[in-house]
Amino acid sequence: MAQLDLSTRDSFGSKIGVVAAAAGSAVGLGNIWRFPYVAGESGGAAFLMVYLGFILAIGFPVMLAELTIGRRAQRNALGSFKKLAPGKPWYLVGLMGIGAAFLILAFYSTIAGWTLEYLAQAISNGFDGKSSEELKNSFEQFQAAPFRPLIWQMIFMFLTAYIVYSGVKKGIEKYTKILMPILVLLIIVMSIRSLTLPGAEKGISFLFKPDFSKITWPVILDALGQAAFSLSIGMGTLITYGSYIPKNNNLPITALQVTAADTIIAILAGIMIFPAVFAFNIDPAEGFGLVFIVLPNIFEQMPGGYFFAILFFVLLSIAALTSTVSVLEVVVAYFSEELNMSRRKATILGAIGISFVGVLATLSFGPLSELQLLDRTIFGWFNYLSANVLLPIGAIFIVIFVGWHLGKKNVLDEISNQGELRLRLINLFMVIVKFIAPLAIAAVFIYGLGIIK
Ligand code: TRP
Repeated sequence: MAQLDLSTRDSFGSKIGVVAAAAGSAVGLGNIWRFPYVAGESGGAAFLMVYLGFILAIGFPVMLAELTIGRRAQRNALGSFKKLAPGKPWYLVGLMGIGAAFLILAFYSTIAGWTLEYLAQAISNGFDGKSSEELKNSFEQFQAAPFRPLIWQMIFMFLTAYIVYSGVKKGIEKYTKILMPILVLLIIVMSIRSLTLPGAEKGISFLFKPDFSKITWPVILDALGQAAFSLSIGMGTLITYGSYIPKNNNLPITALQVTAADTIIAILAGIMIFPAVFAFNIDPAEGFGLVFIVLPNIFEQMPGGYFFAILFFVLLSIAALTSTVSVLEVVVAYFSEELNMSRRKATILGAIGISFVGVLATLSFGPLSELQLLDRTIFGWFNYLSANVLLPIGAIFIVIFVGWHLGKKNVLDEISNQGELRLRLINLFMVIVKFIAPLAIAAVFIYGLGIIK
């Protein structure tokens, strides 16, 4: 059992293991569920362009900054700030990250639960013979039900807790290496099916032909929030994972591989979903349910659809699981290292605490759906607040910390593995973390929220 002991901290075993775990965290429902519906609500291609810009200019540097903090300090998200900046209020950034982990996992587990329901439906051949309209209705009935979604959510939280509890190296690292490539392959197969549906061109132009009149400040903020959410940055997941990365690992290469994998899978998800959206006459701005309505439609229309549906939802659940594990790990590493709990107690406490908050998120599609503030349900608020508020703010402080507090000497030392790697772009990186990223994120944030018009 991987016990977290400060003298011999658990760590990832291999280079591939590091990438698998970090990519496992990044690639999840954010790519396949969240990206298509946010892009769909925000006009498609123009959103994609802004999103890609943020991934490159901000996402990648922030990811590298987080990994640097974690590996430098060898501590959890809060302990890292305490260790690198003793006696200063920087630890509050870590504390905010722990809070964000609660919110994110609370609503993420709702959707992860839905994937289990859809897996069960796929197994019982539940999509067969249903029209688009019927698929949509049955989705809406399911999400509004008082019990079923809750039960799936709890099962998912249990699985997450089980893996975190048994340590990351022997469980998640091992399986993600095999399963993520299969997921990519399957998305490609489904994209091809989707692309060959009659009327598919409309979906492709929706995704790739930008109409820049769709770009407004709130849309830009959505793109930034989605980039942060999808890359798992801004709340300490990658600080925590960074603390398990061996000292000889090439951090820029790792960050690059994870960013590339995450981005490719999001785009593939778009190619899989939008042609089908238009072929089946579904509104791309349909929202949270988009993939759950569109995918069953495609499965019905493909040879071997029964089999592919099962495989797909198995893999989607696993992609979600490798992400939920990384969020729970933030809380567990904090509880066990800072509050001196055993890993076991930390896991149980964290999972139960989050599940309580998660019930509110799940019920906001049913019994609590009327409970709204400014047109958003509880789920809507968790989702919006975490991606569009907490992650951007967290990211600002993380880059400022690396740029101004750690400083070039320490950063260079850590990223270059104590001078072993030659880093040509280190000056560019420092300029980005000191000036460009914090200012750009702050500007998008302030304009996106409408604080300044
Ligand atoms: N990135 C994951 C996804 O796209 C979700 C996730 C895992 C996450 N860890 C995170 C999001 C940390 C924000 C912060 O599904």
